[in-house]
Amino acid sequence: MTKLESFESTSTQEILTWALKEFHPKIALASSFGTEDVALIDMVVKIAPKARIFTLDTGRLPQETYDVMDKIRDKYKIQIETYFPEAASVERMVNEKGYNLFYHSIENRKECCGVRKVEPLKRALKGLKAWITGLRREQSVTRSDVAKVEIDDTHGGIYKINPLAEWTRQQVWDYIKKNGVPYNKLHDQGYLSIGCDPCTRAVKPGEDERAGRWWWERPDQKECGLHLKK
Ligand code: ADX
Ligand code: SF4
Repeated sequence: MTKLESFESTSTQEILTWALKEFHPKIALASSFGTEDVALIDMVVKIAPKARIFTLDTGRLPQETYDVMDKIRDKYKIQIETYFPEAASVERMVNEKGYNLFYHSIENRKECCGVRKVEPLKRALKGLKAWITGLRREQSVTRSDVAKVEIDDTHGGIYKINPLAEWTRQQVWDYIKKNGVPYNKLHDQGYLSIGCDPCTRAVKPGEDERAGRWWWERPDQKECGLHLKK
């Protein structure tokens, strides 16, 4: 990643407005429908109603995530570009290693994320000049140096735009509440960060933001590969 320093003093709205004007239709928002992403959808659609939004449907998402996906679709009258894993790769992996392979070793967990997320992300980014994410510095040790705008060397040198990089969790919630943005109901049951159903659980008060993701792994290993640096 190469950080583009000059954007660090630019506001979220200004960054989004600039990026959508500069790159549309070769720019898309990557949404997992977590709090950051639903807030970003609200912002992006208000700036550019035709802005592109994609999601990686791993096939293992919680029902509550599909519920919020449909709510967002209906409320904003948008299409969500959905990418599924390659069927043949899932079949090979599951036939070889079982349905719950991710609990057996970190290697298996990374393989599953590779098949279900990382490969589909590559397809989603093909032909794009920029992508927008909901990454925040506060989320984890692996994200403390996320820039607002960076060059994503892992994905062919396109722009990676993280407009919420310096936002706190509270700021994101304030935005959601103020703007009546639909959110994943699992958040009302103690879930903070939400990914695939078998790899996500609720956290106790005071626990780390991503403590409920891959809870059996060390914090510095908890990246699924979507945001790894070269
Ligand atoms: S993850 O890499 O550990 O899964 P996290 O859930 O914190 O990431 O989300 C960080 C950002 O990555 C989101 O704001 C979103 O931009 C992108 N992202 C994560 N999961 C997906 C997904 N399934 N589909 C599209 N984008 C995603
Ligand atoms: Fe597989 Fe879990 Fe990664 Fe989802 S989060 S792709 S189920 S290992």
